[in-house]
Amino acid sequence: MSILATRLSRIKPSATNALTGIVAELKAQGRDIIALGAGEPDFDTPDNIKDAAIAAIHAGDTKYTPVPGTMALRQAIADKLKRENGLDYDPATQITVATGGKQVIFNAMMATLDEGDEVVIPAPYWVSYPDMVALVEGTPVFVDCPEESGFKMTPDMLEAAITPKTKWLILNSPSNPTGAAYSKEEIRGLADVLVKYPNVWILTDDIYEHVIYDDFEFATIAQVEPKLFDRTLLLNGMSKVYSMTGWRLGYAAAPAELVKAMNNVQSQSTTHATSISQAAGVEALNGPQDFIEPHNELFKERRDLVVSMLNQAQGINCLTPEGAFYVSPSCAGVIGKKTPDGKVIENDTDFATYLLESEGVAVVQGAAFGLSPHFRISYATDTELLREACERIQRVCASLS
Ligand SMILES: Cc1ncc(COP(=O)(O)O)c(C=O)c1O
Repeated sequence: MSILATRLSRIKPSATNALTGIVAELKAQGRDIIALGAGEPDFDTPDNIKDAAIAAIHAGDTKYTPVPGTMALRQAIADKLKRENGLDYDPATQITVATGGKQVIFNAMMATLDEGDEVVIPAPYWVSYPDMVALVEGTPVFVDCPEESGFKMTPDMLEAAITPKTKWLILNSPSNPTGAAYSKEEIRGLADVLVKYPNVWILTDDIYEHVIYDDFEFATIAQVEPKLFDRTLLLNGMSKVYSMTGWRLGYAAAPAELVKAMNNVQSQSTTHATSISQAAGVEALNGPQDFIEPHNELFKERRDLVVSMLNQAQGINCLTPEGAFYVSPSCAGVIGKKTPDGKVIENDTDFATYLLESEGVAVVQGAAFGLSPHFRISYATDTELLREACERIQRVCASLS
């Protein structure tokens, strides 16, 4: 008899985390690898944030904090949500902090899903949503959002996916893995459907809120439609905008009943995010935000470079996304082609594997995000490396026949 629980058969390891491990191994073997797999900015955490953490250590902020986080951090989050999103949350009851945005989603799904409860997930999706739903015995319901619709869900597509068992819709804008972002008007359209279904809650994953380009205006659903405020969980975090992926800090704002339940779950698992990271989080939110714009300018330059170079690769087609630091080009034009040593590229996983083997470029196969035949590139990396990677991809594509 296996030691493993049957629930483990419903999930697989995160494809992006797995690729990080493979890349580290290949680099250790001395291979020349350009890693475009990990979803993290190459910028360092700003110094004022680091200094706040060091000061916290010296001040003895090294003990347990309340489960939902220190009041100072929850107040800073409430202030941010008011200042930037026009939303009012009570820091005492409606805000909770977790060990990354990932844990926020896990806590929420754990606290709310019974067997067979459905969660509508627009595809392509961030790798972890379906597995977290499945782990707690919920049923992911995918809505295919093809390239032709800009990888976005229309109101009709949403309405067709809702059933009496639907408990959640997970909305992620700007999106991982495509960078597509919903305009205020597009969110309005989805909200008009959702107001008709009072039992459906919305998890809005706003983690790429600040990574937007070309004057795109970010909007979040509870702000666009106040009627949905009482059934919206707003997720955000420090990882992406403050280059704090390793600090593990994310937060949720939601109705008090849900926050209390999520705190209950967390109190029986990790207890709370690291006290030192929380002190750093206060400085991140309250401190200067002036590095965001130059970061975005650089990301935009890289986006434009990558989109243009990928579109010059034979068999690759790449849209220009509104935000985040990913592109998910189609590789439909290389499927069925042969490598110089006669191997047929059957799907996007074969293509990603071949890119890694032949030219040392690590990308994530679209299959991991419910998007085939595509692959995802994270362009949050050095510009010259990106140029080199795109040249290698062009070379690989030209070598297929
Ligand atoms: C869409 C999305 N949501 C949530 C997260 C979670 O990030 P973290 O756990 O680092 O806060 C990520 C990280 O890649 C993401 O891409």
